[in-house]
Amino acid sequence: MVRAWYMDEEILFPKNEHHRIPPKFITLEELYQTSGVEYFQIDSESYERDGTLKQLIEERGNNVQQIVENPDEEQLKKHFTEHFHSDDEFRLALEGCGYFDIRDKYDEWIRIEVLPGDLLVIPAGCYHRFMLDNRDVYKGLRILKDTVYQAHARPSDGMNCRKEYIRKLYNGAFDEPREKIALA
Ligand SMILES: [Fe+2]
Repeated sequence: MVRAWYMDEEILFPKNEHHRIPPKFITLEELYQTSGVEYFQIDSESYERDGTLKQLIEERGNNVQQIVENPDEEQLKKHFTEHFHSDDEFRLALEGCGYFDIRDKYDEWIRIEVLPGDLLVIPAGCYHRFMLDNRDVYKGLRILKDTVYQAHARPSDGMNCRKEYIRKLYNGAFDEPREKIALA
């Protein structure tokens, strides 16, 4: 089961778990309500044939697949810079372990630990960043709408996609449980 928790303030060693004291975990439902981030379980061994992933790609129009594998320290620095995208971004973990940090409704960091088969859909305009854990092994897939991977570093609050995301967040767009995606 995927784990998600609120982070402490100190970030000297970003590959550590960074729990608060005492730890404060969050459910996937709460994660969705406070950020719009969706979670799906995918078969990582044969993801090309996974019905849930196929359906999501068809419904949302994200069909540009790029592999992210064992990023070096230089690449990690970029991944860990707080940013958002102007389209929803799918991130599927295939090997190893990674952390996606997501800003919640109140601008607090939530850390999501992703393992093979974990798929996150990060909404356009939602600030986030990525890091590996101390084992430094990760392979994953990002599935985008556009062939160009463009990240907008914080602060980019004047962009329309950010304004639209904030409007949705505060107008209750994510308050109700998300629609269940039927398995094919
Ligand atoms: Fe991103």
